[in-house]
Amino acid sequence: MSVHKDIKRVTTHVLQEMKRNNEKISMLTAYDYSIAKIVDEAGIDVVLVGDSASNVMAGHETTLPITLDQMIYHASSVIRAINRSLVVVDLPFGNYQGDSREALRSAIRIMKEAEAHSVKLEGGKEVIESIERILSAGIPVMGHLGLTPQSIYMFGTYTVRAREEEEANVLIEDALLLQEAGCFALILEKVPAKLASTVAKKLEIPVIGIGAGGGVDGQVLVLHDMLGITQEFSPRFLRRYHNLHKEILKACSNFKKDVKSQDFPNEKEQY
Ligand code: KIV
Repeated sequence: MSVHKDIKRVTTHVLQEMKRNNEKISMLTAYDYSIAKIVDEAGIDVVLVGDSASNVMAGHETTLPITLDQMIYHASSVIRAINRSLVVVDLPFGNYQGDSREALRSAIRIMKEAEAHSVKLEGGKEVIESIERILSAGIPVMGHLGLTPQSIYMFGTYTVRAREEEEANVLIEDALLLQEAGCFALILEKVPAKLASTVAKKLEIPVIGIGAGGGVDGQVLVLHDMLGITQEFSPRFLRRYHNLHKEILKACSNFKKDVKSQDFPNEKEQY
């Protein structure tokens, strides 16, 4: 990590300080250099190179097909743009479950080849050995509980998780386990707001929510969703800050019109 004397970089410790000071954490996804540069400039605390790139960038139906090489490509593009934000990179499906040595090898590749700052993986008790092994190499790990999209075929739907008491209790146990193992933060996706707030109060590490209400320590959204580039995905928790789909469509149509009518390029737009 290069040292920028005039910029206070966000580290895992800064995030924990923010929780102690009751300052909410902002987190957005980015998958490429140009967008990551804007997100960093906006002062977003954490940039997530999410495996949602599988949907948003590559057009897959789920997050399962994206590979470790592809995640490293996205992550290295993002890292080159970042001056301040903490960068978290998702470990893709199939590169950490069931084999903690493979998990460590995957995390090391992300840290070494993309020069990332930390990794994220989905799950609780069932992946704790992988988490511990990654942490033993000095690699910071963010946990992810609730709706875990890499397990979509086991659950069958993207509906709200842990509504029932039994599942909620398992989630609380898992959250405590992840903290005890040494995770620096936790994502809670699509769980009841009351449960998420209970977890955030129980944990000392920051809990960052997506569809988990306002009682947590920070919020994360997929950038393409909040900018309105993706139109087909419209869950209740999503606040759209723009309708870029409409804007881009208009710009492309105007370009086409100008080319066809020979309005573009004009005298000033040529050599
Ligand atoms: O991959 C991703 O974008 C994520 C967020 C939804 C938290 O994991």
